[in-house]
Amino acid sequence: MPQLTDTQIQDFEDQGVLVLPEFFTEDECDTIQTRMTQLLNEYQPGENETVFSTTDNTHTQEDYFLTSGDKIRFFYEDSEAIDPSQPLELSLNKVGHALHDLDPVFSNFVRQPKLAQLAADVGFTSPLLLQSMYIFKPPQIGGEVVWHTDHPFLWTDPPSVKGFWVALEDATIDNGCLWCLPGLHKEQPRQRFRRNSSGGTEMVTLNSDPFPTEKRVPLEAKKGTLVVLHGLLPHWSGPNTSSHSRHAFTLHLIEKSAKYPEDNWLQRSDDMPLRGFEIQVAD
Ligand code: FE2
Repeated sequence: MPQLTDTQIQDFEDQGVLVLPEFFTEDECDTIQTRMTQLLNEYQPGENETVFSTTDNTHTQEDYFLTSGDKIRFFYEDSEAIDPSQPLELSLNKVGHALHDLDPVFSNFVRQPKLAQLAADVGFTSPLLLQSMYIFKPPQIGGEVVWHTDHPFLWTDPPSVKGFWVALEDATIDNGCLWCLPGLHKEQPRQRFRRNSSGGTEMVTLNSDPFPTEKRVPLEAKKGTLVVLHGLLPHWSGPNTSSHSRHAFTLHLIEKSAKYPEDNWLQRSDDMPLRGFEIQVAD
């Protein structure tokens, strides 16, 4: 059974974005939030995570990020306002990037038939689940995510990445909902983020024209809404200036047949290859 109507599929092709209210139930969202609370309670910050954003450990932070493609790692907000005495979820930016393969609750959440069907409806033949993130956007300190498209960060040839963005709490303009530029996904990529020969990363500019952000449209989303984002659709979210958090979960998919470059930032170890929607049977 398709998840989308022909009209919705056409809208997605035309606009590069599709908003699907009530895709998940409140209970499904609560399950994911509860599981994240457990992970935070179990989390012991390691030496590499002295990331209350004093700027002198940039290399360590980059290494922590660059080796997170097949792990569950915790990333802090970049804010002077972080208060270490507060609960962790009020300091974190996100947890990523392999929750969907390493944690059984997240694996079950993403490997539901309705998500596999949605992937097929938006054009995937043989999707691989590349990256997942739990995003906190804490009240008052949740930062801006600047205008970007996802393809430059999760490059494939040909371009294939698409994002499933899930509102685990109501996302409003005040607490930093997504905004996008509908229809701009038909333009060529303007950047590519890649590893460089010195062990770091670089952003390569392919076209320095700014995005026409005056055409931006807010994507306010009630809890349970799923937003499909084409990998070349420009999107942005503002700082959270409200007293409410804005938790969200994202999953990024790529097409198995597309070439995945070795200098993409996100790499998996050989013993943890990318998987699709199939449920893994224990040995
Ligand atoms: Fe993005």
